[in-house]
Amino acid sequence: MYFTHPQIKLNGKNLKKSFSSFLKKPARQDIKKQLSFYFPGKKFLFTDMGRTAFRLIIEKLNLKNSQMLMPAYICDIFYPILKQYNIKPIFLDIDLKTFNIKPEEISQKITPQAKSILICHTYGLPADLEKLLGLAKQHHLLVIEDCAHTFGARFQGKYLGNFGDVAFFSLYKQFPSLRGGMLVFEKNFETSLAKTSFSFRDFLSFLNCFPLFSFLFKKFGSEIAPKMLRKEKMEKPSKINRVSLNLFSSFFEDSEKDLKRRIELAQLFQEELKKLGFETQEVRDNVFCYVSALVPQNLNRDKLVKDLRKYKVFATRIWHTPIILNKEVQKEYNIDLKEFKNTLEAAQRIINFPLQNYYTEKDIEKIISALKKAKSFGNPQSFLPTV
Ligand SMILES: Cc1ncc(COP(=O)(O)O)c(C=O)c1O
Repeated sequence: MYFTHPQIKLNGKNLKKSFSSFLKKPARQDIKKQLSFYFPGKKFLFTDMGRTAFRLIIEKLNLKNSQMLMPAYICDIFYPILKQYNIKPIFLDIDLKTFNIKPEEISQKITPQAKSILICHTYGLPADLEKLLGLAKQHHLLVIEDCAHTFGARFQGKYLGNFGDVAFFSLYKQFPSLRGGMLVFEKNFETSLAKTSFSFRDFLSFLNCFPLFSFLFKKFGSEIAPKMLRKEKMEKPSKINRVSLNLFSSFFEDSEKDLKRRIELAQLFQEELKKLGFETQEVRDNVFCYVSALVPQNLNRDKLVKDLRKYKVFATRIWHTPIILNKEVQKEYNIDLKEFKNTLEAAQRIINFPLQNYYTEKDIEKIISALKKAKSFGNPQSFLPTV
């Protein structure tokens, strides 16, 4: 069985780690010490979600009532936050080989009200920081690094999260931590955060980290936890809960070793995908939070995702509905979709394949074989008509 979110391999060591996370007090100082290896000289704040860290950044950098350059190809969880703080986004289109923003658009779209830029390292691939940081400096922009997909990735040897004025992470995307965001900063961002208790949604997310429950939820419950997540109200910025922080710290210990293996497997996976006509994301320094690719031209991606489920392969479509396809966003910011050709194409053709740190070459072979068997892949009727 194959899934995209972090899964816990069933063995004695991992079960012990998981269950002890419910009992112990987080060793915050030890965690911070370990993190200092990745982010020397920085401070850390653990929030309930990555989006909370983003809200704190806006408050602390005083970005209310300003304009922010940001990718058009990103999730729409940013929309309510932009609205809350009266920030007008200036959306930038992406490159289809990297899924990251195109630096050359900055000078074309910048306005005098723009105070910041949100640089997202999409799916685990570092953005072109050399160009982006140069342009940010030239235009006096504050740089926010969105590292939601990129814990452990490096650009020119230096870990991401060290480049901007501030960075944030979404821990549960790469670690089985149920929820959690992390703010990495230099200046004093210390602030008091509301307490978050372990909720029923967290309990479901915990079960969801184990292959059997994850399979049952996907098969019969259709993403229960993400739906509950969407319903959660935007309340006062809150802390990560104790269990999530413990889970993050115990699984983060193995991350460096796991990452090396993960990258090797992802590259093997990509080679197989290319043989089938998929256009895969660039490899350079990618940590592969997801193995992302564009389906072959004119193939019906949604049908393929559905057919793959019959073979127990659960691929996702992040982001088949990026922020600029949200109708309210389009209305509020007067979006002209013609400016975002690549974002629209990615939304239509993106597919993210599952990859777990403990997969073997055999598992990749199984996914590729499911892909070949999926009816939608071999059947010409599932190809969209060319316009
Ligand atoms: C690129 C990116 N940034 C930020 C976030 C927000 O992270 P979180 O879900 O932890 O709030 C997400 C996910 O929703 C994301 O994909």
